[in-house]
Amino acid sequence: MTEGTSAPSGPDLSGGLDLAQIADNAMVLGHVGPEAVLLVRRGEEIFAIGASCSHYHGPLNEGLVVGDTIRCPWHHACFSLRTGERLRAPALDPIPCWRIERQGNLVYVREKQEPAAGAVPRPAAGAAGSIVILGGGAAGNSAAETLRREGHTGRIILFSADASVPCDRPNLSKDYLAGNAPEEWVPLRPPEFYREHGIELHLGARVTAIDRTSRRLDLEDGSRHDYNKLLIATGADPVHLNLPGGDLPHVHYLRSLADSRAIIAQTATARRAVVIGASFIGLEVAAALRARQLEVHVVAPETIPMERVMGAEIGGLVRTIHEQHGVHFHLGTTAVTIDPRNVTLKTGEKLEADLVVVGVGVRPTLSLAEQAGLEINRGVVVDLYLRTSDPDVFAAGDIARWPDPHSGENIRVEHWVVAQRQGQTAARNMMGGNEPFDAVPFFWSMHYDVSILYVGHAEKWDSVEIDGSVDAKDCRATYRRDGRALAVATIGRDLESLRAEVEFETPIYSSVRQKIAR
Ligand SMILES: Cc1cc2nc3c(=O)[nH]c(=O)nc-3n(C[C@H](O)[C@H](O)[C@H](O)COP(=O)(O)OP(=O)(O)OC[C@H]3O[C@@H](n4cnc5c(N)ncnc54)[C@H](O)[C@@H]3O)c2cc1C
Ligand code: FES
Repeated sequence: MTEGTSAPSGPDLSGGLDLAQIADNAMVLGHVGPEAVLLVRRGEEIFAIGASCSHYHGPLNEGLVVGDTIRCPWHHACFSLRTGERLRAPALDPIPCWRIERQGNLVYVREKQEPAAGAVPRPAAGAAGSIVILGGGAAGNSAAETLRREGHTGRIILFSADASVPCDRPNLSKDYLAGNAPEEWVPLRPPEFYREHGIELHLGARVTAIDRTSRRLDLEDGSRHDYNKLLIATGADPVHLNLPGGDLPHVHYLRSLADSRAIIAQTATARRAVVIGASFIGLEVAAALRARQLEVHVVAPETIPMERVMGAEIGGLVRTIHEQHGVHFHLGTTAVTIDPRNVTLKTGEKLEADLVVVGVGVRPTLSLAEQAGLEINRGVVVDLYLRTSDPDVFAAGDIARWPDPHSGENIRVEHWVVAQRQGQTAARNMMGGNEPFDAVPFFWSMHYDVSILYVGHAEKWDSVEIDGSVDAKDCRATYRRDGRALAVATIGRDLESLRAEVEFETPIYSSVRQKIAR
């Protein structure tokens, strides 16, 4: 997740550009002073926006214009061309816009305009309606920000069991763990952001019970808090290994900033690491540890990493990429014991290890929702509006199982962008809105310099159609069931990923709208 750069290049757009040089729906990358600016033409309308995404500076000139919005090629954030407002996660902030002046056929980019998200409503004294958010992760943080930005003037109280402010969890297994990103990139917002926006952020604050009758939460420290509306976004916990030596101090799991810091601290002295599990997180950890020059062995029961999610071809490529970077795989086997020096495998093989990281998947953190008596079915059951079986309680993120209009199934996923987008929708609906959650699921995974983008959802498929060359890291895999495309994974084809997202969205939006109209 290395930050992109946008050194100014192309024409000086303040000097005027002939409209005839810009085809309809085309973009021109230029600059105004030192700033890279993107000129976008939609029919007779011209927009001038900042050329890099406010998330990790993805190049918007390589993105996709959809109506009067533009989507980022790296992780699919979406911005308004008119105002620069960020419309979809993972971006949190708007992009700048410039005023356009037309003189005959010439288009001039004039002064920069105020960012769209400039004026944030403040909490009003005596305003009714406390909204409590249980969980300071992707969904919880996004909900809190959306509530304030979209005009909730009552209290917003955010409880997080984490010790740190809401953080960019995906980076914890990528550049931050590899030593390529400073820790200042990790918090989503600085602590003062929450104070300035009147969001009461309680860190290290574990909720122990929800009483829905009196609409009250109990906390571990003995305090009690009332709510009018509640969002549960407790995320997931790593699955723990139950094997001898599994609780030794050099055995780590990775979910929080504290976990990532602990692994980094251990790399100061460790030389050989064993990663148990060839999950996305397990393999990203393997890549990060290689960047820190450790010898890395990956142990997993499957014979091809990620085959279940991505298919054999892309799974095989992922394995090759890691092997080319020096990772040793021990597949088709499992770890049976860990001691301070070794991990012993079922095959009897002993792998020396002074650092062990376990990445064998996560389980949704459901205990509070269960205790509260909410409907549970391998996740907290929510409707299209992210309401649980109690209309005053919403759920979002890794815990929520929602009726996904794209697959037609009730699904639960563990994707950063989905959690953030659900946080946005839940926030609007807690404020009295009636917004369906109809975003097409999206996630990305990073292995060294290779980024895999995945849109849609295919829990089971019966065919994978590959276009392009997997070995050349330039391909699109389409996962189908009964002939219907359910998901698309791309490598080296970011624009195709965006196009696939739009193709998946089009039928959903009309069917959801029809459903709501009925
Ligand atoms: C290392 C790592 C890398 C990842 N990389 C990617 C990636 O590249 N792409 C991708 O799409 N996804 C990635 N993910 C998955 C993504 O981070 C999750 O899907 C996302 O964070 C889910 O958001 P959430 O809000 O549901 O839960 P979380 O972000 O986990 O937040 C849950 C919050 O609930 C709090 N909580 C739990 N129980 C309580 C309690 N009883 N009281 C108070 N607070 C409580 C926790 O402290 C935490 O603040 C990654 C995950 C990890 C761990
Ligand atoms: S860099 Fe644009 S969405 Fe991440």
